[in-house]
Amino acid sequence: MTADKMSQFAGIATIPGDPLFELVARYKADTFDKKVDLSIGAYRDDTGHPWVLPVVKKVDSLVSSDPTLDHEYLPITGLADFTAPAARLVLGKKSDVVKAGHVASVQTISGTGANHLGALFLARHHRSKVIYIPDPTWANHRAIFENVGLTVKTYPYFDKATRGLAFDDMLAALEQANDGDIILLHACAHNPTGVDPSQEQWTRIAEVVKRRNLFTFFDTAYQGFASGDLDRDAWAVQHFAQLGFEMMVCQSFSKNFGLYGQRTGALHVVMSDPAARTAVISQLAKLQRAEISNPPAYGARIVARVLNSESLFEEWVHDLNVMSSRIIAMRHALRDRLVQLGTPGTWDHIVNQIGMFSFTGLAPELVDRLVNEFHIYLSRNGRISMAGLNTHNVDYVAQCIDKVVRGN
Ligand code: LMR
Repeated sequence: MTADKMSQFAGIATIPGDPLFELVARYKADTFDKKVDLSIGAYRDDTGHPWVLPVVKKVDSLVSSDPTLDHEYLPITGLADFTAPAARLVLGKKSDVVKAGHVASVQTISGTGANHLGALFLARHHRSKVIYIPDPTWANHRAIFENVGLTVKTYPYFDKATRGLAFDDMLAALEQANDGDIILLHACAHNPTGVDPSQEQWTRIAEVVKRRNLFTFFDTAYQGFASGDLDRDAWAVQHFAQLGFEMMVCQSFSKNFGLYGQRTGALHVVMSDPAARTAVISQLAKLQRAEISNPPAYGARIVARVLNSESLFEEWVHDLNVMSSRIIAMRHALRDRLVQLGTPGTWDHIVNQIGMFSFTGLAPELVDRLVNEFHIYLSRNGRISMAGLNTHNVDYVAQCIDKVVRGN
């Protein structure tokens, strides 16, 4: 046998895997019977299992038994029966911008695809190539924007002392941005902190965006999870639209429909002049065609059926409430247990934060102990996915947090 030839890829460095997905893999491989998964932002029921929403189950069988169903390609910009109601869901049913044709919508590979397509479009066609993201933010944001050559800067978001919004520092940083710079805002249920601006604070952010002529890039992955009310969770997006701002909205249906693996989402570009719409759509279609040709059909078909039917929509709202209220109940359960145990520190932020996550404030070394000694898997920044807690594991989690905080 001849000796192996040196590969032309021999010089490529091996880099660490994605921390979040590695954590999930470690959890899955762990054989400890009391292991707890508080890592990825994916809903679990009270038994710790993934939950297929009843409305999704129902529509799934309607779609798959539809005799007219085929598996042809979708158009490059996706299923119009999906993108149109998706735009109305986030921009508001009565939205003037939707009615007057100011919105260009394209179906994407969920929220990540929407962020990517929006960023790619801006990298090609926007006058500023600088995007400001919150510190901290979803772990993937920086990578997505750097990948398309945008310059990524950060603005302060989380105040460690109050475990709330660093509002003054955030505004001060936005005031420093240059005319036209892009600013990423989480529409609701901020990932990873669970801290959102109040409506009054959103109004003041909008003033700065207007005065500094910034371009807003909304990311909304948790509509319905923050307050349980779909419109209230889209308040900031709808407020900015009413003010006539040009902006992008990246929308994911992974969490609120539980369609994680179906990669169902959309990018909406809101323009001040509907005359620009045709050109914008054509350029988005060109970018999409070169990358994915056309988006996956199945999840979009399910969401379209639900959003286009009043009765299925009602069922979906009910399912959303099942998820959001179980998470709220778990926030109280964990906070109450830590208080009962007298765990050093204050724990009210667990109930004050909203959405799927709590930013506990646990230091990385304490997180390491929780993972390595106690088989409780959470991100190293102290973020816990509240959906991983349930009535069977919350005592164990509280006791273990208590131990690591006390250094026992
Ligand atoms: C998360 O933050 O846990 C989710 O949004 C999953 C992901 O893709 O990072």
